[in-house]
Amino acid sequence: MAARDENILPGSFFAVFEGGDGAGKSTQARALLGRLRRRGVPALLTREPGGTTLGESVRRWLKSHRDTAPMAELLLFSAARAQLVQHVIRPALSDGVAVICDRFTASTVAYQGWGRGLDLAWIDKLNQAATGGLAPDLTILLDLPPEAALARRARSGDGPDDSRADRFEAAPLEFHRKVRQGYLGLAASSPRRWLVLDAASPPQLLARQVWEKVQPLL
Ligand code: TYD
Repeated sequence: MAARDENILPGSFFAVFEGGDGAGKSTQARALLGRLRRRGVPALLTREPGGTTLGESVRRWLKSHRDTAPMAELLLFSAARAQLVQHVIRPALSDGVAVICDRFTASTVAYQGWGRGLDLAWIDKLNQAATGGLAPDLTILLDLPPEAALARRARSGDGPDDSRADRFEAAPLEFHRKVRQGYLGLAASSPRRWLVLDAASPPQLLARQVWEKVQPLL
């Protein structure tokens, strides 16, 4: 399936995993990567913020500075995204490589827009500018009520009081409820491009559901 860009070969495919903290995105992203590669589809997995030297610096910086102003945070995520799109995602899609990304523009809408309350229209413009209009063919939302995500993190010893919890993991439940609302709204407004899955399901079932949706799109 072609992402919306003339330079991108038909056959290239861009999938994004989204969800609240602790929803199991990384596990599912790796599972999809493995499935694609086993079937001979060239594929790469990247993440946001990250995937480039700049992006990984932004990730480290945000993790270790909890006092960043929301607007500065938004611009940092956007800078990391612009770099990733230009240096990694577009070149891969142009070469016919399927790209899987752990978080993308929807994270900014959900976290900075719905969670932090920054202007949604402005975030849309910024997302558009950072991506040059590149949109995922499919966004998979691993949906989990924040209470369940919290219980999950507490079981893994990474709860909100844990010193390893990052800025958002430590945020109040209300913040995570708004983030979830933002995600569900995005998914509802574009059902053909979104797949919403119950993140409480067993990982193997989730991987199967993802594959059933992805296979016909390849
Ligand atoms: P990460 O370690 O990837 O969290 P997780 O493993 O739960 O996905 O950290 C990324 C954090 O950054 C996560 O809490 C969501 C947040 N984030 C935003 O707020 N806006 C964004 O645009 C992106 C890409 C991430």
